[in-house]
Amino acid sequence: MRSAFQEGSSSLHISDNVEQPYFDQQADSGGLARSLDLAVQVLGEWRTFGRSPRDAFAKIVPSEMTPAQRADLAAVAYGTIRDERRLEYALGGIRGLMFGGAARDAALLLAYRVASGELAPEAADQRFVAWSPGRLPFFAVLRLDRAIDTIRDPVERFALRHSMPDWLARLLLTFGESADLLGNALRSDAPRVIRANLLRGSREDLRGMLTAAKVASAPCELAPHGLAVLDFAPLFSLSTYHLGWFEQQDEGSQLIAEFTAPPPRGKVLDACAGSGGKTLALAALLQNRGTVLACDVHERRLADLKPRAARAGAQNVQWALVGEDSWPEPVQQFARAADRILLDVPCSGIGAWRRRPEARWTIKPTDLESLERIQAELIDRAALLLRPGARIVYSTCTLLRGENEAQIEAALLRHPHLEVVRAREILGGALADRVADATGTYLSLRPDVHDTDGFFAAVLRCKRG
Ligand SMILES: C[S@@+](CC[C@H](N)C(=O)[O-])C[C@H]1O[C@@H](n2cnc3c(N)ncnc32)[C@H](O)[C@@H]1O
Repeated sequence: MRSAFQEGSSSLHISDNVEQPYFDQQADSGGLARSLDLAVQVLGEWRTFGRSPRDAFAKIVPSEMTPAQRADLAAVAYGTIRDERRLEYALGGIRGLMFGGAARDAALLLAYRVASGELAPEAADQRFVAWSPGRLPFFAVLRLDRAIDTIRDPVERFALRHSMPDWLARLLLTFGESADLLGNALRSDAPRVIRANLLRGSREDLRGMLTAAKVASAPCELAPHGLAVLDFAPLFSLSTYHLGWFEQQDEGSQLIAEFTAPPPRGKVLDACAGSGGKTLALAALLQNRGTVLACDVHERRLADLKPRAARAGAQNVQWALVGEDSWPEPVQQFARAADRILLDVPCSGIGAWRRRPEARWTIKPTDLESLERIQAELIDRAALLLRPGARIVYSTCTLLRGENEAQIEAALLRHPHLEVVRAREILGGALADRVADATGTYLSLRPDVHDTDGFFAAVLRCKRG
């Protein structure tokens, strides 16, 4: 399966090198220096102005580059950000590189090319001369994994192997024997997955249209409306996209909508809707009947939802801006009558690292505490308004117990009127066997097991009085 860093609504993605890497392709035409320079600028923009790598990329990289060249630059820039700790260790040892700025980023970018086998260490040496007169041991990149294996401290060894801060390594090591598989998967490229919009047609209809447009795809194994895109295609310039036939959406995210299972003509409060990835999947499951009320604390995210809903032909979506600590009265009223309250809560996002290369560096231990507090508060708010028989669907894109199972266990103690609805009851045995946790209770998706983003979801029902 070909893979992609999902680029929001742009069409950037990592190719399987269908073209020569841009660095090397440009070597004879004098474009090499410029391409490395562009990647250095992307990293500089990201570091200096606190932009997301995606925003930095969109600002710096000229649109006249071909999609494949842009994809190649995105691959090296994002991969370098993700692997920074590994690469720095290779070039500078445990103390890291002793210099900063653009030369440091050029060194890391060249080391990434060496690590991915696209550039010989000698060639990296020669190219680095343009950035600094000092020599760096680019050859050490080729022996990096062996060097890391000799590190005695298990936390440091894991953190360097999988490129993350020690405190996160400590948390991921709690996965025991599967921790390394998970670490590897979180450093891999995410597949390109789209969701067929049932308001326009079926997955099979969409697949036929993609085939006619020479885009190869295959039905997802888990998400019933998902298609994995198998080749390097500029998805967002296709007419099928502009006509609302599909949305780019990870298979795990699609499964959260299935797990929400809105009843026909149901009312769903999507309380943390963002720009509406799950809102639109729910609107389609409801076949344009019932209502999905999409709420968020960020006006800009809700603003993105509006054109997306129009393109998808979703007429059952409403939206409301909410405060961080309370829902306005009309939203509370809606919640009291809702069949489902989806809490797709803000979380540490570890399960989505494949798509957000910078996330492992930006999150801090204190963020976890405040996220867990917000998560519990959102559960409490929904629990107090939930009517008998209605359900809260609590979902995260993290793998950490404190934000997942532990939140649900604590919520059940605080709210004895809630009970868990098991995954099997909602999804049926065949699918639940593949996507539920070992006890069959929660939805539990992992990149190393399912090749989806890491997701957790639990369903809590209000007992009848
Ligand atoms: C995991 S994201 C939602 C993703 C979205 N549901 C989707 O499928 O694309 C979490 C969202 O929660 C929002 N958020 C953060 N704190 C919130 C709060 N107190 N109430 C409601 N939304 C909040 C964030 O702005 C963010 O958009």
